[in-house]
Amino acid sequence: MDGNGRWAEQRNLPRTEGHTAGEQSLFEVLDAADALGVGWFTVFAFSTENWRRPVDEVRFLLEFNEEILLGRQQELHDRNIRIRFIGRRDRRVPRRLIRRMEEATNLTRTNTGLTFTIAFNYGGRAELVDAVQRIIDGNVRRVTEKTIKRHLYDPGMPDPDLVVRTSGEYRISNFLLWELAYSELVFSEVLWPDFRRENLYSAIKEYQDRDRRYGGVGESTGR
Ligand code: FPP
Repeated sequence: MDGNGRWAEQRNLPRTEGHTAGEQSLFEVLDAADALGVGWFTVFAFSTENWRRPVDEVRFLLEFNEEILLGRQQELHDRNIRIRFIGRRDRRVPRRLIRRMEEATNLTRTNTGLTFTIAFNYGGRAELVDAVQRIIDGNVRRVTEKTIKRHLYDPGMPDPDLVVRTSGEYRISNFLLWELAYSELVFSEVLWPDFRRENLYSAIKEYQDRDRRYGGVGESTGR
């Protein structure tokens, strides 16, 4: 959900106004994905690097995430959406926010619709470091790809088919490093607060035109 700060700066507004505007994009796009039958939808809400932002913006983002959880969890639950979190639960994450995350997870645990995963205090390298640490702690002697997968924050989460990065940035920025080994990447110039359901549709269209070969020869070139 990149470009909130720039969207606000273009309007001479505080950066935090961009995050506020991004909430509408998030729930419109989530709704569109759900209506299309997308099973898993993951957003990068706060990275392990975002602590480096000015203290006021960090405080705002922590409170904003909490408000969204409080304000939206019942509506998401009523829509049979399952809420989950990936990321580090370290001491920097306020206890109250962790409680809200647990509440939202528990409330929606048995829902059978779309799984909405919120990456919070998430970093792809941190996830791998944490996985390796837990493998060592478990005295596992033989490590395979499956071992790593089982020790990720959410072992049940399938690898993403499509990753959309907004705002004209062409980087992965430490997002789902293990999981997106074979994901299709779509880059959009649109700043996140301007991102609408139509932008999701065009990203999916671009995805549908790709030829996924997973290192093999694939359907269109294979003989
Ligand atoms: C990146 O824009 C966006 C964020 C750091 C936060 C976005 C968070 C939300 C919209 C709320 C999500 C909350 C829940 C509970 C799902 P940026 O500030 O990096 O923009 P810039 O690149 O233009 O500076």
